[in-house]
Amino acid sequence: MSKRFYVTTAINYVNGQPHLGHAYEEVVADVIARSRRSLGQEVFFLTGLDEHGQKVQQAATAEGKPPQVYCDQLAVDWLAFTKKLELTNDDFVRTTEPRHKEFVQAILTQLHAAGHFYKATYTGFYSAKEETFLTDKDRRPDGTFDPSYGEVVELKEDNYYFKLKDHQQWLIDYLEANPTFVQPDYRRNEVLGFLKNTTLEDLCISRPAARLNWGIPLPFDPGYVTYVWFDALVNYISIPAAHGDQTVLAESEIGNRKSEIALWPADLHVIGKDIVKFHAVYWPIMLKAMGLPLPKQILAHGWWQKDGSKIAKSTGNIVDPIAVINEWGLDAFRFYVLRELDLGPDGNWTDAGFRSRYQAELGNGLGNLVNRSLSMLKRYRNGIVPTPSSELAADAQKVIADTARLLEQNQLQGALLSIWQLVTRANLYVEQNKPFNLAKDPAQSARLDEVLYNLVETCRVLAVLLNPFLPGTSAKIYAQLGLPGSPEKFELAAWGKLSAGHAIGEPAPLFPRKEV
Ligand code: MSP
Repeated sequence: MSKRFYVTTAINYVNGQPHLGHAYEEVVADVIARSRRSLGQEVFFLTGLDEHGQKVQQAATAEGKPPQVYCDQLAVDWLAFTKKLELTNDDFVRTTEPRHKEFVQAILTQLHAAGHFYKATYTGFYSAKEETFLTDKDRRPDGTFDPSYGEVVELKEDNYYFKLKDHQQWLIDYLEANPTFVQPDYRRNEVLGFLKNTTLEDLCISRPAARLNWGIPLPFDPGYVTYVWFDALVNYISIPAAHGDQTVLAESEIGNRKSEIALWPADLHVIGKDIVKFHAVYWPIMLKAMGLPLPKQILAHGWWQKDGSKIAKSTGNIVDPIAVINEWGLDAFRFYVLRELDLGPDGNWTDAGFRSRYQAELGNGLGNLVNRSLSMLKRYRNGIVPTPSSELAADAQKVIADTARLLEQNQLQGALLSIWQLVTRANLYVEQNKPFNLAKDPAQSARLDEVLYNLVETCRVLAVLLNPFLPGTSAKIYAQLGLPGSPEKFELAAWGKLSAGHAIGEPAPLFPRKEV
């Protein structure tokens, strides 16, 4: 059984409706999953929900609902959201599912038995909002704590700790030896800088059930539930275990469970920049303690703002991805977020920017190219493909090779830029060759055949290249070309696959003009 390319997103807290930031991360992971499938790899794409912990409990209480009821209701919306985005995820984890909870408990039992935990009394400060313990080191120069921590209270309580400290030097060495483990480089440097300049505190992995009971009970002490992050990170292996992945199953389980799949180690964890520490510090150490291999890469994307300010429900500064999709179509949304923002830096959503990319790049660029190419073939040649010609083949081949390479490096914005070189080239080819003039002169008939072939074949190649990004548009182009299915395999991009005599379908605008 060959190992699949295993890509994950962060699992989202179910304390509200999905917003632009969540949609972005899901679309990034989906394009990566689709690209890898297109390039011939077997893929497993996992996303889902983080349902335990204080944030979710508080949100449920605010609505007067038991947490499980609250989560079950919201999970319906989040699942619908994956459909709205046309995500190709292979599973959807909810951390309240037995398959996950049982696995987390098994790991806790194993790590406890192996001596990785100890119990101690903590006296200090606690941020309920961030569910995190704070020390004097976290104070700002004026002595206060950052407002993002919400109310900070003094606390004295017994808890279980995971010995992180012991592994600090090992992790530094690992990051030094594996420069692509955390990407982009500046995030890796931040993690390394942090590890070299701070002594890691051991990680508190429990919360007294008397204070917070919305969590997975510690199997070795019923007075406590598991810290939400310890629970959440484990989803990346509990789901492979549920599918019978031998790498993550305990000795005792192997043989009992049918092995259906090989997933772990993950190839890629796609996450936001705010949760790098959890993924690049806690998670590798947890895995090391469990004796499991580390994921191959953690890719941290930036954060979106809207109109230059933080996205926040409280101020009404939000982008509702569902409303945008309903108005402009899914592919316009997917295109804008991936074209506008490279993976890494922060981005800024503006409605004007969105409209301008829609009109210029999608409408006048891609849409116009496809529409006029196909319409001219209809008008001048009855929709019948002429003899193959390869005037644009070299341009297409360069773009195909560049795009494949960029997709393999998860350079999604770069891949779109590369694909648009071909869009621009072909639109220029129309201007240069003026097929509408050639059509008026019977002596130019052979030349018109050549030009038309190059244009429709370029449209076909574009449909293949765009498939991971704009799956709906790609399928529409194929249908308008009279070709069956949608072009999900990258190898179909090879030049010259449209054959003479093939009858295309009906052209129709891909990105209709909008009055605003
Ligand atoms: N539940 C944790 C993750 C656990 S992973 C084992 C969590 N959830 S979250 O709902 O707060 O965030 C989910 C993802 O959305 C994170 O990767 C986060 O960075 C991302 N985003 C949340 N707001 C965002 C923006 N404004 N912009 C881009 N991404 C953002 O953290």
